Amino acid sequence: MTTPVTVTVTGAAGQIGYALLFRIASGQLLGPDTPVRLRLLEIPQGVKAAEGTAMELDDCAFPLLRSIDISDDARVGFEGTNVALLVGARPRSKGMERGDLLEANGGIFKPQGEAINAVAADDVRVLVVGNPANTNALIASAHAPDVPDERFTAMTRLDHNRALSQLAARTGAGVTDIQGLTIWGNHSATQYPDVSHTTVAGRPATDLVDEAWLTDEFIPTVAKRGAAIIEARGASSAASAANAAIDHVRDWVLGTPEGSWTSAAIPSDGSYGVPEGVISSFPVVSRGGAWEVVQGLEVNDFSRARIDASVAELVEERDAVKGLGLV
Ligand code: NAD
Ligand code: LMR
Repeated sequence: MTTPVTVTVTGAAGQIGYALLFRIASGQLLGPDTPVRLRLLEIPQGVKAAEGTAMELDDCAFPLLRSIDISDDARVGFEGTNVALLVGARPRSKGMERGDLLEANGGIFKPQGEAINAVAADDVRVLVVGNPANTNALIASAHAPDVPDERFTAMTRLDHNRALSQLAARTGAGVTDIQGLTIWGNHSATQYPDVSHTTVAGRPATDLVDEAWLTDEFIPTVAKRGAAIIEARGASSAASAANAAIDHVRDWVLGTPEGSWTSAAIPSDGSYGVPEGVISSFPVVSRGGAWEVVQGLEVNDFSRARIDASVAELVEERDAVKGLGLV
């Protein structure tokens, strides 16, 4: 057995929190040999429901679960944390403009970044799930100057998994037959699911599906899947989002399998023409506990235009939060 790892989940009483906590406590996040200490951070109105979830966690008698602490104070919630899953966010309400949404979330992610800076463990890794995830991660990172920028990431793994599943269904392959798929850009409808380097059971995906399907069905289906789930369920994706968060952190900590890559939104180092510092989704592998952008992929004109459009949206969001004094 290794020493326990402290995992903080914000928005712990929400629907993603409910789908996430039991998987973390059962060992699916960090493996069967790593005990976990859970820290649940909520707003005051969410604390009672988080206490109920904690009672259920106790009732599972998970062998790896060492402790559960619940707080509405970020300095307590992030105390000594090694892995921080920032799920709680302010949803867009009726009549709210994008600028208002960014500002409301600034009120959450700025103090959380400051608290992470002050009290988290030196090796803290942060995954932002709460939307707008990329820009919320940027805000938190900007207020944690002592934490290396690359420890702040945002989730596009759900988009990646959605794309795998759509392509597998279309080609009749299994998801594990698919390699070299990328989500570029923002976790929003402008994202670009790219199959130009993808193989399906060793064959180029572009030989197996036609261009019209890619442009008219695959890309919009993946990019608008979040909205389609909300329309069908009356609530945004929860179990699939929790599953993607588990995939992201597990791969980050334990490494991605050899021979392929995945997608994660990480601070750009300028690769593929994405402005430095913007938190954008890239093709990535994880080695030695750090994400690395897969280099040297050829970007054709179609991909260039799509990547540029999504990155332009990220730059706009960055400029908007800069204008609000949040970064
Ligand atoms: P939810 O409304 O069910 O739960 C959110 C929880 O966060 C609530 O319990 C609320 O009390 C809590 N919260 C709000 N502000 C907080 C704060 N400052 N500190 C701590 N907790 C706080 O929402 P959900 O369905 O769990 O979704 C959470 C977020 O994840 C939303 O922003 C959603 O849009 C986003 N999301 C992202 C992806 C992705 O792929 N990146 C996918 C699905 C959902
Ligand atoms: C998703 O991709 O399912 C979510 O980001 C949708 C949302 O707006 O919460």
